Amino acid sequence: MILAVETSCDDTSAAVVRGREVLSSIVSSQNELHAQFGGVVPEVASRRHTELVNEVVAEAMSEAGAGWDDLSAVAVTQGPGLIGALLVGLATGKSLAYRRRLPLIPVNHLQGHIAANYALGVRAPFVCLVASGGHTLLAVVEEGVRYRVAAKTMDDAAGEAFDKGARLLGLGYPGGRELDELAARGDPGFARFPRAVPRGRGFSFSGLKTALLYDLRARDEAEIEAHRADIAASYQAAIVRQLVEKTVAGAAAEGLRSVAVAGGVAANSGLRRALGEACEAEGLQLSLPPLSLCTDNAGMIGLAAGFLPALEWPDYLGLDAFASDAEAKAARPPSKRSAGRARP
Ligand code: KG4
Ligand code: ZN
Repeated sequence: MILAVETSCDDTSAAVVRGREVLSSIVSSQNELHAQFGGVVPEVASRRHTELVNEVVAEAMSEAGAGWDDLSAVAVTQGPGLIGALLVGLATGKSLAYRRRLPLIPVNHLQGHIAANYALGVRAPFVCLVASGGHTLLAVVEEGVRYRVAAKTMDDAAGEAFDKGARLLGLGYPGGRELDELAARGDPGFARFPRAVPRGRGFSFSGLKTALLYDLRARDEAEIEAHRADIAASYQAAIVRQLVEKTVAGAAAEGLRSVAVAGGVAANSGLRRALGEACEAEGLQLSLPPLSLCTDNAGMIGLAAGFLPALEWPDYLGLDAFASDAEAKAARPPSKRSAGRARP
C-alpha cells in the first residue's frame, strides 16, 4: 500500500492506494475559503493545508483500514503547482516517510491526472486529453505515466476559459462547475461563438473568452438575465467542440484507438457527453474517470506512484518542490535515485 499526499493548489488530499485500486481518497476542499476572494489566494491555501493535512492523512489511513506497517512507500506531489502549497505536502510526505523509514515517491501532478485512468483499467498506449485549471494538452501516453506532448494550448488553459467565462457571466467561484450546471439548463445554439479551432494541433481559448466579453457587451442587462443559461451553454459548447475535435483528430494522427481524459475539466458534463458520442461514432475506446478522480485528489497521485521510481530513506530529505514544468526540468535530484521501492 502507498500513502499519497496532494496539496498542489486548494484541495488538501490524502489517499491509500494498492496497485491500481484506490482504497481511500479524502479531499478537503478549500472552495468556500477562497470564494470570498473570487480565486485561490496562495498564502491562504498554504496556511489551510498546514491546518488540514494531518487530519486528512489520518482519515485516509483509517478509511482504508491501513496501519503504518502496511505501507511500502509514501507518495507526494512535487509539482507543478503553487509553491507554498506544494511545500506543505512535501514536508508532510517527507516526515511521514522519514519517521517510518519508508521510501518517498515524488510525483508530477500531470502524471497523476493521467494515472487516474489506470483505476479504470486503461492500457497504454493511449491518447489522453489533460485539461485542468493550469494546463491543456494532448498527451500520447507511451507506457505507465511516461508521455509525449502531441498538442498543447497556445494561450489559456481550458479550465481558465471556464473560470474566466464564469466570472464574466457573474457566476461564483469555482467557476467551471457552476458554468457547467447553468449550461445544463440552456440552449447551446443560442449564441454563435467563433469555432476558433486553430489550424494544426494546438488549442486556443483566449479568442473565445474575448468573444464572450463582446457578446455580453452587445446585450442589455434584461436580455443577459433572461438568457444567462443559454449564453453559458453556447460558450461551453464552443470550448467542448474544440477539445473533442482536437482529441479525436489527435488519436487518428497517432494511430491510436484508445482515448482517455484527465484533469478538472474532464468533470464537465458537456465534454463527457460529447466525447462519448464522438468516440462511439469513430469506434474509439474511451476511458472516462469518475468525477472524484478528475478534479484534484491524492488517489491519482498514488496510482501514478506505482509507475515511478522511489527515493530510498533518507535520500529524499533535500528534495524540493517545483512550481512549473520548466523548473522541474532544470532541477536535479538531491541524490541518487533507485528503481526499487523495497523497504530499507
Ligand atoms: O485539475 P484541477 O482540479 O486543478 C488543477 O490542476 O488546475 O482543475 C481545476 C479546473 C478549474 O479551472 C475548474 O473550473 C475546472 O477544472 N472544472 C470544471 C468542472 N469542474 C472543475 N470545468 C468545467 N466543468 C466542470 N464541471
Ligand atoms: Zn490538477
